[in-house]
Amino acid sequence: MSSNAQLTTGPEALEPGQGPPPVLDATGVAKAYTRWRRLSRRKVPVLTGADLALAAGEVVGLVGENGSGKTTLMRILVGDLAADSGTVRLSGTMGYCPQQPIVYPRLTCDEHFELFGAAHGMRPAAQRDATGDLYAQLGFERYSSTRADQLSGGTLAKLNLGLALLPDPDVLLLDEPYAGFDWDTYQKFWGMVAERRTRGRSVLIISHFIADEQRFDRVIKLSDGRTWSS
Ligand SMILES: Nc1ncnc2c1ncn2[C@@H]1O[C@H](COP(=O)(O)OP(=O)(O)O)[C@@H](O)[C@H]1O
Ligand SMILES: [Mg+2]
Repeated sequence: MSSNAQLTTGPEALEPGQGPPPVLDATGVAKAYTRWRRLSRRKVPVLTGADLALAAGEVVGLVGENGSGKTTLMRILVGDLAADSGTVRLSGTMGYCPQQPIVYPRLTCDEHFELFGAAHGMRPAAQRDATGDLYAQLGFERYSSTRADQLSGGTLAKLNLGLALLPDPDVLLLDEPYAGFDWDTYQKFWGMVAERRTRGRSVLIISHFIADEQRFDRVIKLSDGRTWSS
């Protein structure tokens, strides 16, 4: 994890209080990017004190205009990007589906699942079982031997989501996961999210579809560098 935000994991991250503690808890997250203009540079603030908490079994949406900082915040939550200040606490395991799929062009779907399964420390049999389930649930088994650089945008989006789901993480962070999905896959996606919720797994989804709001337990809006309940 490369974030400057203080990141703690495990039981020591849990605070005493009423009710179950959040599985993911971010407070006061700030981030400014450096912009160069000719020879001078200036800091452009994107996040100025964003707070976000996710409870076990919650499905939360993160909405906001283009450029409002949704991806920046999610990358900080994941530990992929350093915050300037703030605290991020995670309890349990995390999966991340980035907005731009990060895949290896010459590897097949099967090879991606093997690679990611090994990276997560999964036993080969468990990895194969989980991969088979994901192929069936998302409907792309016929591409199991196809290289990533030969996949359509929609199938690449399924692989991207499948890789985040593979280890069945406690907390799943998805950055506009269904942008390339057709309607059938979109429905399957929400079925998978609902099934995770019943098992106490948490999901944070960046979405720009306002029509999705009824599918979430809660929607958080990001604007002016801060998070707002809506
Ligand atoms: N690596 C970067 N360097 C400089 N500016 C960036 C970088 N990443 C994002 N930005 C800028 O930060 C702002 C927020 O971007 P982003 O987090 O991608 O927003 P969103 O996901 O809500 O569309 C935008 O103005 C974007 O241009
Ligand atoms: Mg984004």
